Amino acid sequence: MTARVAPEQVRTVACVGAGVIGGGWVAYFLARGYRVRAWDPAADAEARLRTLVDTAWPALTELGLAPGANRDNMTVTSELADAVSAADYVQESAPEQLDLKRRLLADIDAATPDHVVIGSSTSGYGMTEMAADAVGGHRLVVAHPFNPPYLIPLVEVVGGTRTAADVVTWTAGFLRHVGKSVIVMDQEVPGFIANRLQEALWREALHMVANGEATPAQIDASITDGPGLRWAFHGPMLTFHLAGGPGGMAHMLDHFGPSLLSPWTRLDAPELTPQLRGSVVAGTEEAAGEKTIADLVRERDRRLVDVLRVLGKVPGGS
Ligand SMILES: NC(=O)c1ccc[n+]([C@@H]2O[C@H](COP(=O)([O-])OP(=O)(O)OC[C@H]3O[C@@H](n4cnc5c(N)ncnc54)[C@H](O)[C@@H]3O)[C@@H](O)[C@H]2O)c1
Repeated sequence: MTARVAPEQVRTVACVGAGVIGGGWVAYFLARGYRVRAWDPAADAEARLRTLVDTAWPALTELGLAPGANRDNMTVTSELADAVSAADYVQESAPEQLDLKRRLLADIDAATPDHVVIGSSTSGYGMTEMAADAVGGHRLVVAHPFNPPYLIPLVEVVGGTRTAADVVTWTAGFLRHVGKSVIVMDQEVPGFIANRLQEALWREALHMVANGEATPAQIDASITDGPGLRWAFHGPMLTFHLAGGPGGMAHMLDHFGPSLLSPWTRLDAPELTPQLRGSVVAGTEEAAGEKTIADLVRERDRRLVDVLRVLGKVPGGS
């Protein structure tokens, strides 16, 4: 068996599935100086991918491109095997459907040289269930990014029961080498860490809309003008540590814990009725106002670049 290349010797990355997330990965790897081979079965995939990379490029350029970074280093292949057979690492970002992921990961596994690690962008499935049909389950691992993967540093890495420990270590090492902030999890938890937290917040937001307690615009403002400002540098734990005054987290839990029993236990999942869907969509569109999705993407990227700069979290340190 050919030895796995060291994380810092990876030159070519294959991205399978080139939508919002796969395309974002393509843009990021190109900006870090890699050759990228992309495959996506949709007829319009290449055009969408090129638009996405072009949209991402100004922000990536502003943050600083790695030596040799060039959009021309991207090859879009018409066959899956052509993308993965020449790669040193594969990132799968196909739709979040378990059967599809199972089949696709088995196909990728069959077409990829057996020393190459295969990561999945899944937002919530465990690799144990996704790898069920693959022969090489030992080299399949979850590498869960955040949108847009070309600007948000975090990737959650977690293996399934068949994933080899050295594959988890290699993936974390490679992604750190390309400038990502990596959390390695020891256990498969649905939604991993960050999505589990985001889902809890979203559940409560939908409850409030369903009950007429808050509009989508109020929900967004309550985060962007409130706790969200702190979360870019202090997560919920350090935030509450400071909210406890000199007594810190211990005082916080002793003081507020008993009164939080009710909010912690009173709500179940909201039912996503057509009415609730309608209110959330209409309220969000109203909050977006005249701005198109493309306008909002540009605005988001510009502001994320500013935030990353202020926090000193620019990949490659430029
Ligand atoms: N959107 C997010 O915020 C986000 C964040 C983190 C992770 N993810 C995960 O990333 C993955 C992709 O999500 P997305 O938001 O980019 O979806 P998307 O719909 O934007 O893109 C999916 C792409 O996969 C392609 N595709 C369809 N069938 C395929 C197949 N059999 N093989 C390969 N590609 C195929 C589609 O043509 C499309 O281009 C999902 O697993 C999702 O859970 C999404």
